[in-house]
Amino acid sequence: MKQKYYITTPIYYPSGNWHLGHCYTTVICDAIARFKRMDGFDVFFLTGTDEHGVKIEKRAAENNTTPKAFVDNLVDSIKDLWKVLGISFDKFIRTTDDYHVAAVQKIFKQLYDQGDIYKAEYEGMYCTPCESFWTESQLVDGKCPDCGRPVEKAKEESYFFRLSKYQDKLIELYKNNPEFISPKSRMNEMINNFIKPGLQDLCVSRTSFKWGIPVTFDDKHVIYVWIDALTNYITALGYGSNDDSLFKKYWPADIHMVGKEIVRFHTIIWPAILMALGVEMPKQVYGHGWLLIGGDKMSKSKGNVVDPFVLSDRYGVDAVRYFLLREVPFGSDGVYTNEALIARTNADLANDLGNLVSRTTAMITQYFGGVVPNNKAAEDIDKDLISLCESALGKVRADVEKLLIPESLGEIFRLIQRANKYIDETMPWVLAKDPEKKDRLGTVLYNLAETIRISAVLLAPFMPATAQNIFDRLQLGKLPNDFASVKKFGGLKSGGGVTKGDALFPRLDMKKELAELEKLAAEQQKSSADVKKSNANKNEAAAPTGKESGEKEEITIDDFAKVQLATAKVVACEKVEKSDKLLKLTLDVGGESRTVVSGIAEHYTADYMVGKTVVIVKNLKPVKLRGILSEGMILCASNGKDVVFVSPEKEIESGSGVN
Ligand code: ME8
Ligand code: MG
Repeated sequence: MKQKYYITTPIYYPSGNWHLGHCYTTVICDAIARFKRMDGFDVFFLTGTDEHGVKIEKRAAENNTTPKAFVDNLVDSIKDLWKVLGISFDKFIRTTDDYHVAAVQKIFKQLYDQGDIYKAEYEGMYCTPCESFWTESQLVDGKCPDCGRPVEKAKEESYFFRLSKYQDKLIELYKNNPEFISPKSRMNEMINNFIKPGLQDLCVSRTSFKWGIPVTFDDKHVIYVWIDALTNYITALGYGSNDDSLFKKYWPADIHMVGKEIVRFHTIIWPAILMALGVEMPKQVYGHGWLLIGGDKMSKSKGNVVDPFVLSDRYGVDAVRYFLLREVPFGSDGVYTNEALIARTNADLANDLGNLVSRTTAMITQYFGGVVPNNKAAEDIDKDLISLCESALGKVRADVEKLLIPESLGEIFRLIQRANKYIDETMPWVLAKDPEKKDRLGTVLYNLAETIRISAVLLAPFMPATAQNIFDRLQLGKLPNDFASVKKFGGLKSGGGVTKGDALFPRLDMKKELAELEKLAAEQQKSSADVKKSNANKNEAAAPTGKESGEKEEITIDDFAKVQLATAKVVACEKVEKSDKLLKLTLDVGGESRTVVSGIAEHYTADYMVGKTVVIVKNLKPVKLRGILSEGMILCASNGKDVVFVSPEKEIESGSGVN
């Protein structure tokens, strides 16, 4: 029977503003899950969303919607993200799922009935963004020790979990299981900062807001989000439901992968709850480091956002996956820069891997008509490459087992680099000149193609799309779902075909890409600022005055063809009330009447406009400006100071197309 392996990511707060940092935990878990599956384990890989709490309640209210409708949207967006990144989760749990809610209520009631939860009055310092209560002594300069933001005094009648009771048991747990908190440095941090000062009972219910799981026997209270959230790891397996077969099969978790800022919840509160429930401990909580940008944690609240959709679209999802898996020494923090992403992609993916594949397939095409040649006796120079191929899986596995993810990729790339060196050493183009060396040339190219095949299988858990792409070039069909074929060199069949395709990863022009990315970032900032502006109902600022300058991205003729321009005659015009900038124009567009609001009142009077012919964007999505529906936009030329509308050089009937 296969050995089971249960791996979890944290469940994500549905922020919606997904950045590269968010992808970190999940991409790592995905690579590990895929590796374990191929390595013969029966894997269960869990991810999901953490949807309750006051933050969501507030944001939903600001958006005039219900919390559930609000999170539904965001959950769709994170599922899209995981789809783009190729995340192979086995289950996606939402804390709003019925079975989870019911199981959490049952757990809470059980803990109350057995005396692990009791009711009392509580006063403390509360950090709203982190949803955490702190004691005075835990505050840093009077602020939240996690995020540095101000805290508020809060007092409520609450339910408490007897965390203090588990202090000694927790220390014992850590002692008996030295890998329970990993890396080791995080264990000392937990013991010294949290356990030694003494654990206090934990407030596990709230009355100040409604968006949470109600306490069944006291429905003024909702259950503290961290109790709700942490239990997902067992409710997802059916714990507390009618069917707990998955729980029986997969629990305990082999690894809870979490960011370092939430290790505390996972190594103190979570095991204490499990102890109270009499449930077995997870084997390991691994606290990885952060992806930093501009020296800070990449965080949605600090404006340093790097859009994973944009980067995947531009460089390919595997360039993004590779960067995340390779760049950050696991356990420590790493820094994201556009430059580092491009440099990594160029050096490892375009040069090392891409060149190896294209040189090899090109030479097999040129010298053997695209057919994998025969593999004759190996020479000494081949043996080094062959033995590296045969030992690679073992080394990669050892690294993955120790969660040395960048190192595991390092092993595979050592093989790829060795193969490139082998090309330089054997010089196939010299062999090709001598007809007597045809067999030797065949063997060399066979060895290269076989090394590429083995590399692709080993890369499959980390870069599944690229691995499949390489398999396609070797005309090998679907990637195998195990590692059986890489244990011995020589699995590739002679006589098979190869396809010479485009570069796997085109070489990126560093300067050009940096400039493009900067532009994209600026556009993103601008568009998010625009959204904020329009939310704040300052639509006037967004009115089309054409004041924009600056270079934009190149577009194709098809892009341009999407914009429908037409001439229009101004039939009537008036100033928009209480606005200095806006004119309301009534237009005739080929017999059809339209209203357009335009930000040109500082440049033209209403009277002047009547009778003029203008050019409008006809298929612009209508927007309301000052309560008036504007159906299009008037084209204007502007130097940043003056604004003049564009008009045809001669009279022409209204509604004429402009292109
Ligand atoms: O904490 N670098 O959810 P979350 C690396 N709902 N990892 C980062 C990161 C960065 N810049 N930014 C975020 C929560 N992450 C809770 C968990 S579990 C029962 C409840 C990681 O959406 C972060 O460390 O704030 C965490 O592992 C994950 O994204 C989700 O964070
Ligand atoms: Mg967080």
